[in-house]
Amino acid sequence: MRVLVACEFSGIVRDAFRERGHDAWSCDLLDSEADSRWHLRGDALAFIDTRWDVLIAHPPCTHLTVAGARWFKGREAEQAEAIAFAEALWAAPIERIALENPIGVLSTRSSLGKPTQIIQPWQFGHGETKATCLWLKGLPNWRPRTSWKAARPVCIGSRQGRSGGRTAVGRCQESLRLSQSSGAADPGSREE
Ligand SMILES: C[S@@+](CC[C@H](N)C(=O)[O-])C[C@H]1O[C@@H](n2cnc3c(N)ncnc32)[C@H](O)[C@@H]1O
Repeated sequence: MRVLVACEFSGIVRDAFRERGHDAWSCDLLDSEADSRWHLRGDALAFIDTRWDVLIAHPPCTHLTVAGARWFKGREAEQAEAIAFAEALWAAPIERIALENPIGVLSTRSSLGKPTQIIQPWQFGHGETKATCLWLKGLPNWRPRTSWKAARPVCIGSRQGRSGGRTAVGRCQESLRLSQSSGAADPGSREE
């Protein structure tokens, strides 16, 4: 398949596809940190067209995520621009699209609406807790590989650390609650 990974300079997702035999390319305003032979440097919107079978997009979340909510005031123009960018990626003329972002205003203020799925790194073999929203088009939901009990998720931060008036542990618990209530975890494998 021809895969475009938009807003990626690390080459990590692109190379995972390439290792599986796909013709995958990354695209970012920045140079690639990895092999630049399969990297398109520039505005992703200039590259999204019908030549691709799959689009995976990681648009910047700085003006969108709830973690940055206390900075929203006075930055409405930046937020509107970030939303418009995500909406343009989502409207790409590509049959299969996965757009990823943390929990934030894309769900409430954009035409994307609620995410298709909210997943956690710990469900896929990584220890961290970070609710990650996926908007999926033409693609199946991700099926978690690890149960809650087996994964032993790690909450990043401590009760002493404060952010936006809430402790890091509080945010962690909230993020776990959101991913579980979204049905992101496979109910069959939940052993809590
Ligand atoms: C949250 S980072 C994602 C990084 C990605 N996960 C990786 O592994 O490289 C968002 C990226 O979007 C890129 N970006 C911002 N606006 C863009 C645009 N119009 N076209 C392409 N990339 C853009 C930024 O340069 C940044 O690298």
